[in-house]
Amino acid sequence: MNFNRFSDLFERSACNPRLGSDIMDFAPPSSPHQKIARAYDKASEKYDNYVTGDNFLLKILKKIALGLDKEAEIECRNIIRKMLSQIREGTVLDIPAGTGLFTFEEYLKHPNILFIAAEYSWGMLKQAHKKIKELGAKNILLVRADVGNLPFKTACFDAVLCLNGIHSFPEKEKAITEMSRVLKNNKSLHGSLILRGERWLTDLILETAYYRLLWFTRPALSRKEFLEVLQRNRLKTSSLKLIKAAAAFEATKII
Ligand SMILES: C[S@@+](CC[C@H](N)C(=O)[O-])C[C@H]1O[C@@H](n2cnc3c(N)ncnc32)[C@H](O)[C@@H]1O
Repeated sequence: MNFNRFSDLFERSACNPRLGSDIMDFAPPSSPHQKIARAYDKASEKYDNYVTGDNFLLKILKKIALGLDKEAEIECRNIIRKMLSQIREGTVLDIPAGTGLFTFEEYLKHPNILFIAAEYSWGMLKQAHKKIKELGAKNILLVRADVGNLPFKTACFDAVLCLNGIHSFPEKEKAITEMSRVLKNNKSLHGSLILRGERWLTDLILETAYYRLLWFTRPALSRKEFLEVLQRNRLKTSSLKLIKAAAAFEATKII
C-alpha cells in the first residue's frame, strides 16, 4: 500500500517536522493547554506501567481511584478490534494516541490502513516514537495536534479512535465537534472515557487528585451530558457499555 498521499489529509501545513522529521507538529508553542501537555510529559515514562498496573503500587492506586483492574485493559483491546473489524483499508485517526499502548501492535496487523496517531504531549509522542521504531511499523504517522483544532480536512477519516481521551481534554465539546467533523458520513467514533456521577469514590479522587495533576480536566462529563454532546454533533450512539466509572462507546456520524 502506498501512503505517499497522506499529505492530502491535511488542510494546513505543519509548523515544524521534529524528531528527525518523524513527527509532524501542528501545535505551535503559542497553542493553549501547554500545562496539560507538561503534566503528561512528566507522566510519560511511567504511563504504560500505570495503565497496565505492572507496578504494584500503581495497580492499587488505579483500583481505588477508578475501580478498574484488568477489565479496562481487556475492554480497550475490544474497542480497537471492533473498530478494525469494520475497516479493510483507508485512514484512521487515533487521538489521543498517548504512547501507543494497546494500539500500535494491533495496527501492525493491518498494513492496508494508514493510522494517524495524534497527540499533544511531546513526552507521550517520544514514547510512541520509540515503540514505532521497535516494532518497525510503516503504517503509523505521528502528528502533534490539539484535538480542539485539528489540522485535517473535513470528512477524511474512515474511523476515529479516542481511547481514554475525552476526560483529559480541556474543551470536551470542541474536541467532539472536531472529531465528528473529520469523520466521513456513516463512519464511527470509537472510544472510552471516565464519566462523572457513576462512582462516588472516583468523583472524589477526580476532585482531590486527578484534576490537580491535570491528568483529567474539570468537569468530567456525566453520562447524560456525554450522550447529549454526541447527539449535538451528529453522532448517533450505537453502543455504550459501562464498567464502574468508565464507558466504552461507539457512535456513528449521521448526515
Ligand atoms: C489518559 S491519556 C490516553 C492516551 C491513550 N489513548 C491511552 O489510552 O493510553 C490522555 C492523553 O490525552 C492527551 N491530550 C490532552 N489534551 C489534549 C489535546 N488538547 N489534544 C490532544 N491530546 C491531548 C494527553 O497528552 C494524554 O496523552
